[in-house]
Amino acid sequence: MMKLNVNGSDRQVDADPDTPLLYVLRDDLQLNAAKFGCGLGQCGSCTVIVDGKAVLSCVTPVVLLEGRKVTTLEGLGTIEAPAPIQRAFIEEQAAQCGYCIAGMMMRAQALLQRNSKPTEAEIRAELGLHLCRCGTHMRILRAMHRAAKLMQTADASPTQRRTP
Ligand code: FES
Ligand code: FES
Repeated sequence: MMKLNVNGSDRQVDADPDTPLLYVLRDDLQLNAAKFGCGLGQCGSCTVIVDGKAVLSCVTPVVLLEGRKVTTLEGLGTIEAPAPIQRAFIEEQAAQCGYCIAGMMMRAQALLQRNSKPTEAEIRAELGLHLCRCGTHMRILRAMHRAAKLMQTADASPTQRRTP
């Protein structure tokens, strides 16, 4: 039995230590946002965030996640209260079939957490690791810029500031 912290909650998982994190998320924890695309670390559809970094969950054995914080798309926001990155992708209508989008959003979120004002080149370099068969790349780029602005606005909002 292993203990994982997923989206802020401690979860017990009974799985072989070599099981890819993606299978545990989808099959054991019913968190289905991350998708199986290639299963080989080559498409990005399975991306989640681990301790602030984008990670390909299809090639990450679950045993490596003990004591670390895993965030999936489900942990960012809700339908009623979407996170800025989710709002931006909706407002730009960035998805066509949607299969790649959860992974794109998680890598985008990780990028914006460490760099709130990424350049076009930095966004392209980061998202270039992801495949989108529908070709919505230009909308995804627009969504990234929109998300950066939304996150900056949220950070500047008095209601978001921490009181000393
Ligand atoms: S399913 Fe993980 S990179 Fe393709
Ligand atoms: S929206 Fe279909 S694969 Fe990207």
